[in-house]
Amino acid sequence: MLILGIETSCDETALALVEVKKQGKSDSPNFRVLKNIIASQIEVHKEYGGVVPGLAKREHRRNLVKVFYKTLSLNYGMTNNQFPISKQISNSKLQNIEKVLERYPEMVEEFKKKIIPLTKPNIDLIAVTHGPGLEPALWVGINFARALSVLWDIPLIGVDHMEGHIAVNLLAPQEVNEMSNVKYQMSNVDTASAIAFPAIALAVSGGHTQLILIKDWLDYKLLGETLDDAAGEAFDKIARLLGLPFPGGPHIEKLAKDGNPNAFDFPRPLLRQNSKEQTMKNKYNFSFSGLKTAVLYEVRNQTSSISGGLTSKLGKSLTPKVRANIAASFQQAVIDTLVIKTIKAAKEYGAKTIMLAGGVAANQALKIQLGDKIKKELHNVNYLVPELRLATDNGVMIAIAGYLRYANGESSDWKTLEADSNKLITD
Ligand code: KG4
Ligand code: ZN
Repeated sequence: MLILGIETSCDETALALVEVKKQGKSDSPNFRVLKNIIASQIEVHKEYGGVVPGLAKREHRRNLVKVFYKTLSLNYGMTNNQFPISKQISNSKLQNIEKVLERYPEMVEEFKKKIIPLTKPNIDLIAVTHGPGLEPALWVGINFARALSVLWDIPLIGVDHMEGHIAVNLLAPQEVNEMSNVKYQMSNVDTASAIAFPAIALAVSGGHTQLILIKDWLDYKLLGETLDDAAGEAFDKIARLLGLPFPGGPHIEKLAKDGNPNAFDFPRPLLRQNSKEQTMKNKYNFSFSGLKTAVLYEVRNQTSSISGGLTSKLGKSLTPKVRANIAASFQQAVIDTLVIKTIKAAKEYGAKTIMLAGGVAANQALKIQLGDKIKKELHNVNYLVPELRLATDNGVMIAIAGYLRYANGESSDWKTLEADSNKLITD
């Protein structure tokens, strides 16, 4: 079966086509990515130092149909009479489409000109992120998906964004080769056996930091989450402090390569065994705001010793060496916290698989250090990390999570599917 995945929860307009085949005796699904198209809005949001919801919505609206064309390998510039078939649709369908898209008049016109005349594509399921995320941004993708579902009578499923980040690990065997070039060899496993349960997922993105026990697909228990900033958010804030562009994660990672991770002893919050916070209830929780403050103080400390006072571009007045040392020491503090708690949870729950998920899973140092620790302290535990371009937001992950839900007999109704800011995985 062929699945169209649509993701517009934040600043990427991302669509993908994923083919699912049942394989072998185990009947486990085998996913193949046919198309993975991502239109990034980073240039639009960069000057604001973060994602602006109203602008995100506008950009999704402008780009969605073009990205859809690209995903289907169609040429957006072709004129009407070049369409495969120009066809009429019933009045009731047209009315429903107009109603679904009523908030975006230009999109209705574009839909009529560019989508309605198309021959129905060979898609069996439309999966769309319904939350959590920026509501105005989510709605654009949801309404587009609803309109497609009405037009072509294709089943629709709303997907949780974080479940998508985790589920993309079903493609992880592709990563085995990529990772083995890096530092260590992972066992060459096929998808079905790689994801042995119970599994522990460390889901780390710009909006979330969660440690999750997965008893089986669709069966999650939240072990802990951040009490304040998400891990990716901490990367973004420290990057800003150091005068680096948004989103900060990749820039911090690059700068950290030139620095010493032990140069500054930044705090590892909620780690100390005997600390008062270390109760049963929150032993798997995270907190990054204290770390952020400690880094800020160190930057101030360093800049006053250089320039004699505060400047608006504090981080830029640091010497390159100090700046790199701060980036490296900050990154190490985040990684230590994430790795220690993940290993601890895996031991406590007898995990057979550990998965990384979310944008921060793009961080090579995190991937390698967690992998090394697993190899050293846990035997026969499979370690899965998403391929680099599938760690940050994409449509592939939504298509895969959509498949898992649909295969479980779930689906959404185009009439009622709406943005849902509630998290799927809660305690
Ligand atoms: O999952 P994602 O693409 O979007 C959300 O769902 O939030 O994650 C984006 C986050 C950003 O905070 C970004 O700075 C962080 O992931 N990120 C990284 C790296 N690449 C992206 N953090 C650390 N190291 C990276 N290489
Ligand atoms: Zn994400």
